Amino acid sequence: MTEQNHSHAKEVLSNQEGPFKDLERLVRKYACTPYLRPIADHTRRAFADAEQFIADFYSKGNAQSAPLPVILDSGCGTGESTFHLAKQFPDYPVIGIDKSAVRLNKASKNNDGPSQPLPRNAFYVRAELIDFWRLALEKVTAGQWTIPYHALYYPNPWPKQSEAGRRFHLHPIFPALLRLAHTTELRTNWEIYAQEFAQAAHILQEMPVSDCIPSSRVAMTISCEAFEPEQPITAFERKYKNARQQLWLAIVHQ
Ligand SMILES: C[S@@+](CC[C@H](N)C(=O)[O-])C[C@H]1O[C@@H](n2cnc3c(N)ncnc32)[C@H](O)[C@@H]1O
Repeated sequence: MTEQNHSHAKEVLSNQEGPFKDLERLVRKYACTPYLRPIADHTRRAFADAEQFIADFYSKGNAQSAPLPVILDSGCGTGESTFHLAKQFPDYPVIGIDKSAVRLNKASKNNDGPSQPLPRNAFYVRAELIDFWRLALEKVTAGQWTIPYHALYYPNPWPKQSEAGRRFHLHPIFPALLRLAHTTELRTNWEIYAQEFAQAAHILQEMPVSDCIPSSRVAMTISCEAFEPEQPITAFERKYKNARQQLWLAIVHQ
């Protein structure tokens, strides 16, 4: 898929007609399974760069005491949404994260044209999201960061049932992902992905307190709905809108 090929955005094709049949079992299992895969060195280095950017941002007159607010734009692709979020949250650093060097190289070049410089609170890092989120959660639980808003705009849907375990809500990272931010917003052009994401959050929410679900957990409000962006804020959003595809949101507040 290319970002330029607006009129040929294909609908998601899947051999699933509704939410993944094994969703509940997987979400429950991962709620109680520590995720121990070692964190890749390249993501540790990228995370250190993001930490430095945040420290510099707050040392240059944007006074804040810990926890420092940070906005995340995960899977930012060519970075348009990072640019928009930086304008929406001018007082906070906004970190766009993607594993694709090709897409990130286009970031800061294609945002509303070259006449618009990258906002000073925006920063891009090349990293693996799963590892970046685990490092970010350490900062949150240590009381050093707080994440008011986490954008997950148009993640790869992995629509084949055989690939369902690669969807973020069917992966061991999901409990950590939801704990990261006060508001987590998923956008997708596949209704089932949004429904599954919201269902997985409900399942976590309803699990009784136990060894793996602490009594200190925070209640969540979870919503899932169709939406139509007036102004697309990502390359994929523009492509889907131009192809008149229905778009979906799942939002988790805690
Ligand atoms: C479908 S694109 C959407 C990009 C952008 N959010 C948009 O809406 O235009 C998904 C992006 O997520 C990135 N991505 C997928 N899995 C990732 C992972 N595990 N770590 C980092 N980036 C990832 C891909 O490189 C790609 O740029």
